[in-house]
Amino acid sequence: MKTPVRVAITGAAGQISYSLIFRVAAGDMLGKDQPVILQLLEIPPAMEALQGVVMELNDCAFPLVHGIITSDDPNVAFKDADFALLVGSRPRGPGMERSDLLKANGAIFTVQGKALNDNASKDVKVLVVGNPANTNCLIAMKNAPDLNPRNFTAMMRLDHNRSMSQIATKTDSHSTKVEKMVVWGNHSATQFPDIANATVDGAPVKDAVDNDWYVNEFIPTVQQRGAAIIKARGASSAASAASAAIDHMRDWALGSDGRWVSMGVFSKGNSYSIDEDLIYALPITCENGEWKEVTGLEIGEFQQKMMNATEEELKGEKEAVIDLI
Ligand code: NAI
Repeated sequence: MKTPVRVAITGAAGQISYSLIFRVAAGDMLGKDQPVILQLLEIPPAMEALQGVVMELNDCAFPLVHGIITSDDPNVAFKDADFALLVGSRPRGPGMERSDLLKANGAIFTVQGKALNDNASKDVKVLVVGNPANTNCLIAMKNAPDLNPRNFTAMMRLDHNRSMSQIATKTDSHSTKVEKMVVWGNHSATQFPDIANATVDGAPVKDAVDNDWYVNEFIPTVQQRGAAIIKARGASSAASAASAAIDHMRDWALGSDGRWVSMGVFSKGNSYSIDEDLIYALPITCENGEWKEVTGLEIGEFQQKMMNATEEELKGEKEAVIDLI
């Protein structure tokens, strides 16, 4: 039996976590042979609801769960954490400007960055899900000076998975047959789902679809998918976001077997001339618990324009929270 690892999850009484925690507990993230100790963080008004989640977790009698800790103190929830999934964040309230939202979340992620710095394992793998995910991740990273910046990532996997699914449907194939998809930049409506290198059943996707569909249907569909789900379901994507978080962490921890995935990562030293102080999604492969940028891709004029637009947005977000980093 392996030694249990500590998995911290914030926003643990929220809707994404209601799917996420149970999948982590079932071994979907780290394998069916990896016991876990769950360290669940919430804010005081949600602690009672969190107790209800814990009652249900106990009722599942998951063989891999070797302990459950709940707290409203990040220093407790992140103690010795090997993995930290930062899901909790402040939703946009009525009349709230985007800059207010950035600042309100900034306050959360400065505190959580410091708490990770002071308490978590030095090898902790951090995934920020709570929006605005890339900039929240940048804030947490900057407030954790003793941790390697490479330990901090933001979730783009939902956008990546959505892209693969759209291509599979369009080409009458299966998402597992779609490879080398890249979603660049910010987890927002400026993200750039790029099919320039993508293949389906081994053949170039761009030969299988027409450019009009790519530019005028595919890209906006992926960019606006979150809003479409809210409209249809009356609530934001939760189970699919949880599933993407599981995919992201599993590949990072256990390897992506050479497959490209999209991850928001610290842009320092990137090979695509992107500003070096952002959390920007790049094409990534994972091996031995490390992520690595896929370098050397040729970037055409259209791609460059799209990559620049999402980079500009991230620079603007950073400016709005500059005093927090
Ligand atoms: P939710 O509102 O159901 O749950 C959020 C939970 O976070 C609440 O229980 C709240 O009490 C808690 N929380 C707030 N501040 C906290 C703090 N300082 N510490 C710990 N917990 C705190 O929201 P949901 O649907 O679970 O979504 C969570 C976040 O994930 C949102 O910001 C959403 O926009 C984002 N999201 C990101 C996606 C991505 O692809 N990166 C995809 C879908 C959602």
